[in-house]
Amino acid sequence: MSAYLSIEGIARRFRTPKGTNTVFEDLWFAMDKGEFACVIGHSGCGKTTVLNILSGLEEPDGGVVIMDGQAIDGPSLDRAVIFQSHALLPWKSVLGNVAYAVASRHKDWSREKVRAHAERFIEVVGLKGAEHKRPAELSGGMKQRVGIARALSIEPKMLLMDEPFSALDALTRGTLQDEVRRICVETGQTVFMITHDVDEAIYLADRIVLMTNGPQASIAEIVENPLPRDRRRLDLHKQPDFYALRNHLIDFLVERSRVLRDSPPAGYDRRRPPVVRPTLATEPVGALSPRRTAGG
Ligand SMILES: Nc1ncnc2c1ncn2[C@@H]1O[C@H](COP(=O)(O)OP(=O)(O)O)[C@@H](O)[C@H]1O
Ligand SMILES: [Mg+2]
Repeated sequence: MSAYLSIEGIARRFRTPKGTNTVFEDLWFAMDKGEFACVIGHSGCGKTTVLNILSGLEEPDGGVVIMDGQAIDGPSLDRAVIFQSHALLPWKSVLGNVAYAVASRHKDWSREKVRAHAERFIEVVGLKGAEHKRPAELSGGMKQRVGIARALSIEPKMLLMDEPFSALDALTRGTLQDEVRRICVETGQTVFMITHDVDEAIYLADRIVLMTNGPQASIAEIVENPLPRDRRRLDLHKQPDFYALRNHLIDFLVERSRVLRDSPPAGYDRRRPPVVRPTLATEPVGALSPRRTAGG
């Protein structure tokens, strides 16, 4: 069976005064429909570049990306992007911003139908009552909710998120993580998300893609999340496999992300990076580890 999303040997190079900067080359990754994948890696390794290629905003210098049987060759409403900070239309209300996206997706819908559809998604992200506010009147968390409502309202085949919660305070971040997870699980949304927050990846992702440091970054490993699907954010630390998974990810960021770039393991195959599933049985954990992130 072919994958829903298939990244097939993509490369990206930038010409600089000092020579060619190869961000990555021959990168392979595939996703099934309804899967939630998170990418973790240090700043500058090329995460945003991959996401921009998936969105169609950037073209790879080699390779191809196939989504639902079609090669990606430019931006499309099939793929919605949520960035760290939002480009909301400042002169439009919350409803106006979401309705604008809905109307671009469904050019044949009546005004009433567009409005009802937009209102449904505004309610889903908890903004009912704020429909007529303009972006300037909203908090950072509320603006991010508008961005999420806008992305979800076009019911994309794929949702792409680039560190969408990193600018928010911890409380708001947690609430939005809960909402995004609930919506994605309920609707079977396929998601590709970049984060530098290990705990966020553990909570949200089915699989976590570990990228080595750049330049010439590669996918070092694909980590399967061993936690149960009905996990809850505030109980994660009570799951038996939580610390095994967390320590595996932190260990990667602290050391293996560098070591594995410089000396990949024997038999490493770019098309099939090793798949690991850290559990208490495979990686017994001693002391609790401190909270760490990759920093950007
Ligand atoms: N438009 C560009 N011109 C030149 N270099 C770029 C450009 N965009 C990204 N890069 C380089 O590509 C590398 C990866 O960037 P990026 O994908 O933003 O990393 P990440 O999102 O993992 O922090 C960096 O070394 C960055 O300097
Ligand atoms: Mg980035």
